[in-house]
Amino acid sequence: MRTVAERPGGSPTSAPTLVIRGGTVVDQTGERRADVLVVGGVVASVEQGIECPRGALVLDAGSCTVAPGLVDLHTHLREPGREESETIDSGTRAATLGGYTAVVAMPNTDPPLDSAEAVRNVQELSLSATAEVAVAGAITVGRLGERLAPMAELASLGVRLFTDDGAGVQSAALMRRALEYAKGLGVTLAQHCEDGSLACDGAMHEGAWSSRLGIPGVPAVAEEVMVARDIILARATGARIHFLHLSTAVSIELVRQAKAEGLAVTAEVAPHHFSLTDAATSGFDPVFKVSPPLRPPSDVEAVKVGLADGTVDAIATDHAPHAPESKDLPFDQAPPGMLGLQTSLGLAITELDLPLARVLALLAWQPAALAGLDPAHGGGQGGPIVPGAPANLCVIDPAATWTVDASALASRSRNTPYAGRRLTGQVRHTVFRGEPVVIDAEAQR
Ligand code: DOR
Repeated sequence: MRTVAERPGGSPTSAPTLVIRGGTVVDQTGERRADVLVVGGVVASVEQGIECPRGALVLDAGSCTVAPGLVDLHTHLREPGREESETIDSGTRAATLGGYTAVVAMPNTDPPLDSAEAVRNVQELSLSATAEVAVAGAITVGRLGERLAPMAELASLGVRLFTDDGAGVQSAALMRRALEYAKGLGVTLAQHCEDGSLACDGAMHEGAWSSRLGIPGVPAVAEEVMVARDIILARATGARIHFLHLSTAVSIELVRQAKAEGLAVTAEVAPHHFSLTDAATSGFDPVFKVSPPLRPPSDVEAVKVGLADGTVDAIATDHAPHAPESKDLPFDQAPPGMLGLQTSLGLAITELDLPLARVLALLAWQPAALAGLDPAHGGGQGGPIVPGAPANLCVIDPAATWTVDASALASRSRNTPYAGRRLTGQVRHTVFRGEPVVIDAEAQR
């Protein structure tokens, strides 16, 4: 048995004393072999040969990496409004099984998170979740791109990231004003880069495969012109901007140049944009429909280079659950989106030729800092794993292989494009605020 529970007398508390034994601790300060003692939800000691206090729960980390819990910048939890697809409860359970201890909840719910009332509602619903839920607010009222949401009021509730994700802010004038407000408030705008006049009714990448299949295409330039425009606006306003799910070589190059210039520009990519190409669409299966769409191999390669050379700051899942009754439609009518929370770590380890510490930087401490959830912003996510830090941790077996079973995923939806795919790298345990919410790859609540 890999995990030994020693709980003489008394029922488990929500934050028992834990010893995470026999692993290699990896965080932004480096790598060392050490046990981790957690008491009262907080890391108490990180050293070799920690003696097990009476009544402590021992989590075996043999042959594993003990890392800060992963942080997802881009999760669609669907509550309120689409609870048949996902709820805060089911989505955060999927997150913990994927090694996450925090997710940023996207505001394209129904109603959208564009008011203090809507934000407070999700914050309250999230109090009992098994991972931290940081609410992203909408940039514009109703995500309609017409007038600004009450950003200052939402910022006063703790909202640090604003986005109309699902759509880009089409008006350059409105985006400029939003950037000016964001700068004053010290918050970040996160743009879904897609120019509607170029994307039109496209349902997949515009290229050889869309021509062959007769599916209307979304050209790469629909994304790229908005990246270019927003870099120019960021330069003009001095505001920070974060680019969501970039998918093309030109987008990555634009960000590379903006960073070289010293602009406050950051970017994320989604696992499906480094692990799948537009050829996957050939069978007309809507499970491969996503926005932005899957791209050709040259773009996939550019995304990987951007991850390797530091142009891209984070891997974000764009976990987008859709219940079968809405997703199982003809390709052009189905909504875009794929599940991502339980497969992102395995895909990153399997598909990217990067050292594990780099993968963890992209999945844990860099996104934690971007979301303002790290210790530098007063939060407890993303490490480092040191005495006194809140115990938000994941234990990963980087060499374990497993096969994605869509029916076994914790999400309420089943729309994973990776069913049957063999991945290397598995989450063994996840600890949220000192509570072992996943033990031996099993959710505990
Ligand atoms: O594929 C996507 N699905 N991309 C988005 O930007 C939105 C998301 C959703 O909400 O389903």
